Amino acid sequence: MQNSNAVATREHWEKIYSSHSEEELSWFEAAPSISLDLLLTPSLKKDAAILDVGGGTSRLPDALLDRGFTNVTVLDIAQSALEISKARLGERSSQVKWICADITNWEAATLYNAWHDRAVFHFLVDENARRAYVEAMERFLAPGALVVIGTHSTLGPERCSGLPVQRYSAQSLAAELGDGFRWTATRKLEHITPSGEMRHFQFSRFVRE
Ligand SMILES: C[S@@+](CC[C@H](N)C(=O)[O-])C[C@H]1O[C@@H](n2cnc3c(N)ncnc32)[C@H](O)[C@@H]1O
Repeated sequence: MQNSNAVATREHWEKIYSSHSEEELSWFEAAPSISLDLLLTPSLKKDAAILDVGGGTSRLPDALLDRGFTNVTVLDIAQSALEISKARLGERSSQVKWICADITNWEAATLYNAWHDRAVFHFLVDENARRAYVEAMERFLAPGALVVIGTHSTLGPERCSGLPVQRYSAQSLAAELGDGFRWTATRKLEHITPSGEMRHFQFSRFVRE
C-alpha cells in the first residue's frame, strides 16, 4: 500500500516528466560515461541482471544494449519517464524490462547482479526510506553484485528539482549502506546542467558481500 508521501513523490516526478523535455532536465546527460566506467568491470557478464534504480529517461539502457547486455531492467516511480525512454528506444525497448515502482516499497521477482542509481538515493531524506532502500539492496542483490550510486557530493546543492537532498561523500555513503557493501572506487563529477550551472556529484562503487 502507498502512504501519502509516496503518492506525493510519484505525483512530483510524473509532473516533471510530463512538463519538460528530456534535454531540459537539470540532470540530463547525453552519455552516461561515469556510470559505464564504474559498471563495466570484467566481473559484469553480458547476461548479468542489471537494475537501473530511478532510471528516469537516462540513456544508460541504450548504452548497455549497445554493448551487448541482454538483461537490463529500468525501475522508476514515474510511468511517464519510462514511456519517454521506451519511445526513444523504439523497437529495442522490448529488450529492456520496465518496472514502475517506488524502490522503498518494492518486491523484486529475481536477484540482480548490478544496481545502478544516478541521482535517486540523495532524495531519500527520511531515514525510514533510506533503510527500506538499503534493505532492498540487501535482499535483491546476489553476493558479489556491483553497486554504483551517484549522488550530489558534499559540495552539491541542498535542494534539487524542488526537493531537499542529502549530500554524500564516499565515506558517508559507505556508512549509510553498512557492512554488507564493500567500497571499491569513487569518481567525482562536475555536471553541467542544460542551463549552464555546475553541480558536484560523487559516484561510488561497492560490491555486495
Ligand atoms: C534526478 S532523476 C535521475 C534520473 C536518472 N537516474 C538519470 O540519471 O537521468 C531522479 C529519478 O528518480 C526517480 N525516483 C524518485 N524517487 C523514487 C523512488 N522512491 N523510487 C523509484 N524512483 C524514484 C524519479 O522519478 C526520477 O526519474
